[in-house]
Amino acid sequence: MRKVQVDKAQPGSILAKSIFTADGRELLSAGIEVRPAFFKKLKEHGINEIYIEDDISNNIQISDVVKDQTRQEAKELVKNIMNNYTLASSFNSERVKGIIDNILKELLESDEIIINLSDIKSVDDYTFEHSVNVCMLSLITGIGLGFDLPKLKDLGVGAILHDIGKLRIPEEILKKPSQLTVDEFEEIKKHTVYGYEILKNNHKVSMMSAFIAFGHHERYDGSGYPLQIKGDSIHQCARIVAIADVYDALTSDRVYRKKLRPHEVVEYITSLGSNHFDQKIVESFIKYIAIYPKGTGVLLNTKEKALVVKNNKKIPTRPVVRVVYTPTGEKISEPYDVDLASQNSIYILDACEL
Ligand SMILES: [Fe+2]
Repeated sequence: MRKVQVDKAQPGSILAKSIFTADGRELLSAGIEVRPAFFKKLKEHGINEIYIEDDISNNIQISDVVKDQTRQEAKELVKNIMNNYTLASSFNSERVKGIIDNILKELLESDEIIINLSDIKSVDDYTFEHSVNVCMLSLITGIGLGFDLPKLKDLGVGAILHDIGKLRIPEEILKKPSQLTVDEFEEIKKHTVYGYEILKNNHKVSMMSAFIAFGHHERYDGSGYPLQIKGDSIHQCARIVAIADVYDALTSDRVYRKKLRPHEVVEYITSLGSNHFDQKIVESFIKYIAIYPKGTGVLLNTKEKALVVKNNKKIPTRPVVRVVYTPTGEKISEPYDVDLASQNSIYILDACEL
């Protein structure tokens, strides 16, 4: 299977993964033939990309590290908590812990923990989907850093609820389409402190999770907020969530800007050096990100266009690719696979649409 922009899907290709609406209903089921009539419906739901199965993408398996159903449940739970101010201080932390246990179990059982997180995201449903993605990315980083199970669980709870303080910020500021005034931005910054208070006051939630909400916008060089603390004074788990938060935000389409591709965001995050992030954590984080996710298109230095077939954990810039188009843009009748790890003269120039 491979991922394409909705309007680039050729009629007749097969939908490879089911599409869900923001409220968790199945909009289109995997296995049906893609028809132009779907495009409008998908766009209405803020869905810009789909996975399809076609002649060039057979044998490319893209497994979900965490099942659709688990992610949907997690998203619904975050939505319920964040849409209900009165319940917020006494939200059901047992349910949150249950969801974190499930996500963690699936991550730990996965034999391919490299995450193809550029999954189908709906623009409309950003906040809740973002919380779940940040949680998965943070947990993967924690696993890579060798955290024990209790620490991973607290990390997961803090990560999925890192923005819970936003429910105390007036909606007209949160959703303001134009630039924020200085005062409004000061108000937004308070979501870190509000989040800390909400989690701290829930006695079944660990203080570590509360520190995550508090510190996820601090920066390693002390230029963040709310306290402008720096370096290791920022809780280690907040330093993890800070990276996951920025990574997922930049790889998501927003109303006001198009998303960046994974390799661009990884480049951006590493280029910031230790200004914003803890470099040791960045190193661990990027080990588990597929910078060229399976099933996406790449442009090679030979000017050929290819499809990523298999990620290379040791050398992420050199996956196995399937060459599909010649340098002059003709479709190759029998596409062939090339392992870039063993072909030094061929390399990826950029990601591209196929
Ligand atoms: Fe935040």
